[in-house]
Amino acid sequence: MATPAPMRIPAAKASTRQSKTAKAMSGLTDSRIDALLSLLSENSTIVISGAKIAREIHVSRGTVWRWVQKLRALGVEISGHPRTGYHIDRIPDVLAPKLVSRRLLNTQFWKHIYHFFKVESTNDVAMLLGDKGEAHGAVVLAEEQSSGRGRAGRSWVSERSAGIYCSILLRPDISPAHASLLTLLAGLAARDAVTDELESPPDIRWPNDLLVGGKKFCGILTEMRAETDRVRYAVVGIGINVNQTKMPTSIAGIATSLRMVSGRVHSRTDILVRLLRHINRYYNLFLANGSAPLIRRFAEVSSYFQGKRVKIRTATRTFEGVTSGLEPSGILRVIRDDGETELVLSGDVMEI
Ligand code: BTN
Repeated sequence: MATPAPMRIPAAKASTRQSKTAKAMSGLTDSRIDALLSLLSENSTIVISGAKIAREIHVSRGTVWRWVQKLRALGVEISGHPRTGYHIDRIPDVLAPKLVSRRLLNTQFWKHIYHFFKVESTNDVAMLLGDKGEAHGAVVLAEEQSSGRGRAGRSWVSERSAGIYCSILLRPDISPAHASLLTLLAGLAARDAVTDELESPPDIRWPNDLLVGGKKFCGILTEMRAETDRVRYAVVGIGINVNQTKMPTSIAGIATSLRMVSGRVHSRTDILVRLLRHINRYYNLFLANGSAPLIRRFAEVSSYFQGKRVKIRTATRTFEGVTSGLEPSGILRVIRDDGETELVLSGDVMEI
């Protein structure tokens, strides 16, 4: 048998990709800041000396002080100073890997969690990780995105420490034609994750916008690398508006946050952990039983599934009709006014 020739990557391309990856990863949160947060949280009932913290996380006392200042600037309530020691006033709502991963141990998402205080887009980082061969189940989280991306080339406003900005790398053995089911299942999971936070459960506007009182607070952007018959990897990016107190004027009429609806502050960490647990459950259900249970669940929870009069705007045209369920691949069926059935693969859906 002939020995296969080694794969050659053109030098210029490989180095461009490496430098892009290096640039994207340069803002990765230092794992010792993660350790500091975890240490303070585990010892939340006592004052812990700067010297002890420095010893445990292998940095100088000066660095501990600098990082404490940085965390305070992000809203983490830490009292004390280098001489007296430090005390965390309440468990911080930072999406720090150590704090999140220990609550995900029985899921496929606990092992590789990447956290950024600020990044351009968590989807961009997850795509780069996918290209580099990162394992299925990696999660990329950010406190803030400077170029958060939405569907159809729109942007996603990503205010610091107010929302959840999360991208998950998946390597399912499915064809690209079924990839939209990943978006569908993430939408179902996001709905389950936030339902207990609200007085009445949110609606899902096909394929994946979560709405409360007719305004959107969660969106999902799925991107993938695929061959004609096989997905190499998919990145499911989820944005949830959690604790924003107002929306930019340009989207104030159509967007909201959980806090703006409920009037109270919500724990981003709790919602994120529930989100990943529900994605884990729906993903396993999908692999074991195909799309039918997802579509049944969508029918139960989305007012857009059937009988809703809508306007559809695709990349090429706009038309009106009434929704009439989903195809097994997740495609939306719409019956036009002239009685013809349209199959909508992607596009914006508006209630009329
Ligand atoms: C949409 O409804 O238009 C999709 C919005 C998706 C936003 C999320 S936030 C995390 C991830 N990173 C991005 O740049 N976009 C997605």
